Amino acid sequence: MIAHDQEGGSEHDPGTGFDLEVAMKISRVFVASVAVLGLAGWAGSAHADAAAGKAKFADICSECHEVADFAGEDAKGLADSIKKIVAGQTKHKKALKLTDAEVADLAAYMAAGK
Ligand code: HEC
Repeated sequence: MIAHDQEGGSEHDPGTGFDLEVAMKISRVFVASVAVLGLAGWAGSAHADAAAGKAKFADICSECHEVADFAGEDAKGLADSIKKIVAGQTKHKKALKLTDAEVADLAAYMAAGK
């Protein structure tokens, strides 16, 4: 009887099991944080590229728009207007399919007007 009890006790070493679980949790949190930080860093470094916007505008928008018509407008306001078109909130002659980065590029180019 006594021997059996001792055996049962030594089978479950709470210390080891707990440490392993915590270590696994910590490493998972660590991996997740690195992924989030990496994405944030990537998004933060994605500057609006007016040259890329110019190419996009010539490709898609110049069929109906003159860039000069948008010159002098606030780039952020323009980006908001374009995003509303992309989201379907503003009625627009042509449905636009653009990523946020492409919208920022276009807005930077259009606001500059050249
Ligand atoms: C098929 C023709 C056509 C194409 C292509 C086109 N647009 Fe337009 N867009 C229009 C018309 C028509 C209007 C509304 C009247 C106007 O401003 O002349 C308009 C209006 C807009 C407006 C003002 C919306 C508001 O808030 O009132 C923006 C911004 C705009 N377009 C951006 C773009 C961008 C960026 C592209 C290219 C990615 C593009 N458009 C491509 C026809 C077009």
